[in-house]
Amino acid sequence: MAKNEAPIAVFDSGLGGISVLRELVKLMPEEYYLYYGDNANAPYGDRTTENVRALTLAAAEMLFDRGAKALVVACNTATAASIEILRETWPHKIIVGIEPAVKLAADHRAGSIGVMATAVTLREEKLANLIHRFSDQEFFSICPPGLVPLIEAGASTEELIAYLEPVLSPYRGKLDAMVLGCTHYPFARDAISVILPGVKLVDGGAGTARQTQRLLAQADLLNRGEGKIQIENSAADPGFVLRAMAFLEEE
Ligand code: DGL
Repeated sequence: MAKNEAPIAVFDSGLGGISVLRELVKLMPEEYYLYYGDNANAPYGDRTTENVRALTLAAAEMLFDRGAKALVVACNTATAASIEILRETWPHKIIVGIEPAVKLAADHRAGSIGVMATAVTLREEKLANLIHRFSDQEFFSICPPGLVPLIEAGASTEELIAYLEPVLSPYRGKLDAMVLGCTHYPFARDAISVILPGVKLVDGGAGTARQTQRLLAQADLLNRGEGKIQIENSAADPGFVLRAMAFLEEE
């Protein structure tokens, strides 16, 4: 296989990274994508940082062994725990990690910004450093631990609203923007908007796709093929791959 035709590996703990895959496909439809969700070990968000790092390294090794020309870590939690060690381990590979879109929210001149993310992402230094750059704005960290499993289970907007109402209603009228700092959360966009009307919701999916395209272009590794998407999962239950496909089709 020519180097350009090799797959772009897209990795998440589960189905959330599909929100990033959608942006990648929109921007670069001619690429071959290998999406890998680690549902046998999901969710990552409440694990120890060391544990998330070990799982991410194992997945990256498997994906590079299979010839991936680039790795997109489509999981804020995995990025927070492991992006440095991934880059140290594979210094010559293209590795892009999604991060909470704090800058995007701050650029909208939002004075008051919520950051929704997993416990790992919220406690890691990376996010604190990012927020520190925008100290003229007020930030609220919000961790909804039950949201990822609900999204993975295909919960309806009504079910998501029922879960999120007590978590988010204290912020009603207080926020200008909300960072969806976990790749699963864009799938709860409608529910969040019902609870927090008028709040601008931002996520890092499109920015991650643009950065991947930039790095591939720089390395002369962009493909001009038919485009192909292969979805795999570490869990034995075939339902995860089917749900991932359904998420990919969702508007
Ligand atoms: N989708 C992942 C993220 O972006 C985390 C989900 C999980 O807790 O596994 O943070």
